[in-house]
Amino acid sequence: MPSNKSLDNKLHVEAICHGTVIDHIPANIGFRLLHLFKLTETHERVTVGLNLPSREMGRKDLIKIENTFLTDEQANQLAMYAPKATINQIQDYEVIKKFVVSLPANIEDVLVCPNSNCISHNEPVVSNFAVLNRSVGLHFRCHYCEKEFAQKAIMDV
Ligand code: CTP
Ligand code: ZN
Repeated sequence: MPSNKSLDNKLHVEAICHGTVIDHIPANIGFRLLHLFKLTETHERVTVGLNLPSREMGRKDLIKIENTFLTDEQANQLAMYAPKATINQIQDYEVIKKFVVSLPANIEDVLVCPNSNCISHNEPVVSNFAVLNRSVGLHFRCHYCEKEFAQKAIMDV
């Protein structure tokens, strides 16, 4: 019976030579990230592991994108979906940078405004929400209608 540690160390998805590994994504969120952040809209090879065993998280998802690197700002855009994600830069099969995401001040081009009267639904604009750390939890304020929404309200749109 392997220990949890050795389960964690086992490579569940083939190693990559050059590119980005987004690790420690909550289970069931990986697919959503692929879609929301258009991560498959590239000619590069993308490999995905879903529901992988993880010592810290129980289960986790993981995404590997070859020949592609994210800026820290781009990586932080993932934080509201994957608050503990680690973004690994791989070169010549080695991890040369490990970046832990943190919430950015704004989330752009990902969220849809829950206010059906918001002008963002009628104009071809890039959605933009300010991230606000309220005492009752995270809130998101639409740049266009200036309404504020709780995380649950905006993630389920
Ligand atoms: N990885 C990869 N290809 C490589 C090197 C690493 O796909 N050539 C993947 C590993 O499988 C792992 C992630 O990149 O999912 C980070 O690698 P590493 O830092 O070696 O793993 P851990 O020490 O387990 O990372 P952490 O401490 O962040 O959990
Ligand atoms: Zn709005």
